Amino acid sequence: MTVDLNLIRNYKLEEVWLPFSESILEWEQDFHSLMLNDEIRMVAYQNAIREVVKPDMVVLDLGTGTGILGLWALQAGAKQLYAIEVNPDMIPVAIATFEQGGMKGKYEIFEGLSYDINLPEPVDLIISEILGNIGDNEDCVPILNDAYKRFLRTGGKMLPSLVSIYLVPVSSLQAHQQVRSQNCKVINAKYSLEKLLQARSLASPFNHYYDAIIPRKCYLSQPQIARRLNMDGNDDPVYQAQLTFVVEENGVFTGFKGSFIAQLSESVALDISGDDINTRTTSDSWKHCYLPVETPVEVESGDEIDLLFSRSYPIHRDSPFRQCYAWSGTIKRRGNLIHAFKQSMGD
Ligand SMILES: C[S@@+](CC[C@H](N)C(=O)[O-])C[C@H]1O[C@@H](n2cnc3c(N)ncnc32)[C@H](O)[C@@H]1O
Repeated sequence: MTVDLNLIRNYKLEEVWLPFSESILEWEQDFHSLMLNDEIRMVAYQNAIREVVKPDMVVLDLGTGTGILGLWALQAGAKQLYAIEVNPDMIPVAIATFEQGGMKGKYEIFEGLSYDINLPEPVDLIISEILGNIGDNEDCVPILNDAYKRFLRTGGKMLPSLVSIYLVPVSSLQAHQQVRSQNCKVINAKYSLEKLLQARSLASPFNHYYDAIIPRKCYLSQPQIARRLNMDGNDDPVYQAQLTFVVEENGVFTGFKGSFIAQLSESVALDISGDDINTRTTSDSWKHCYLPVETPVEVESGDEIDLLFSRSYPIHRDSPFRQCYAWSGTIKRRGNLIHAFKQSMGD
């Protein structure tokens, strides 16, 4: 099954897509082509790797995929590259990338989940791009905590070194309607919202997040940081964030937009919140995270939206990628409760 890249690079504002990050273990090579063509992602990572990698470093590329980040590290002077990848189909692709890049003898690839791999020596730098559109929805926290503790030498560096997760309440009746009618775009016929909801035992499509470009014109308030991931081996994958947003624009509240800013190096930050599709300030492979609420609510400037955002990590799920998010809260007008909402991906 292949993906028509032209079709999936041809997306529109407020168009709802099936969440890309929920099928990591099934990603095909065409998903990787989409990432390789995602300009803001590629430019940011290449510049950061050139800045951080110093000659003679030993580098780990965790989740190497096509091997592109590892190749850039070697080209920047790394003396040895270790690459880990769980998807067996990507191993020959990564080998071809390193070999065609003239890196014979300078790399070693380990097939499997990083938790199950041991490296021959500690590394100076861990490079990874296992970020979802709300930062931690590809499980980067437990994966990178483990990698930090077992693979990195004392004083070694992480790239990214800090990831901030942003949330903002939005008004998008268009997105709301697509979720209500379960009419979301998929990258190919292998995937469907019905299957995803069934697999999660979710009756309501409003109890899941989606990929969508939600532009600034939909913001009801200022974005706020819900979580900072310090990438120091001690980030907790399970957390709750309590935020209060003061509504600045009259509109119909339909949910939240999530996005991240990742500090890749001292001078490179990757911000996926952009919304100009024509000039590609948007990311083709991430889009934004749309967390819908079931009942749209008319809100006025001055109203307060209190949000409790939480991430859990249920142990009974049999996937290594088992994040669950919940978003609930209230809306108050001049101190009086006018509405309550509660959505959850389960427990
Ligand atoms: C978003 S892709 C990035 C691929 C490549 N690094 C790039 O930037 O183009 C993430 C890759 O990491 C792999 N991956 C995610 N978590 C992993 C883990 N814990 N161990 C090994 N591979 C992992 C996935 O299979 C996927 O190929």
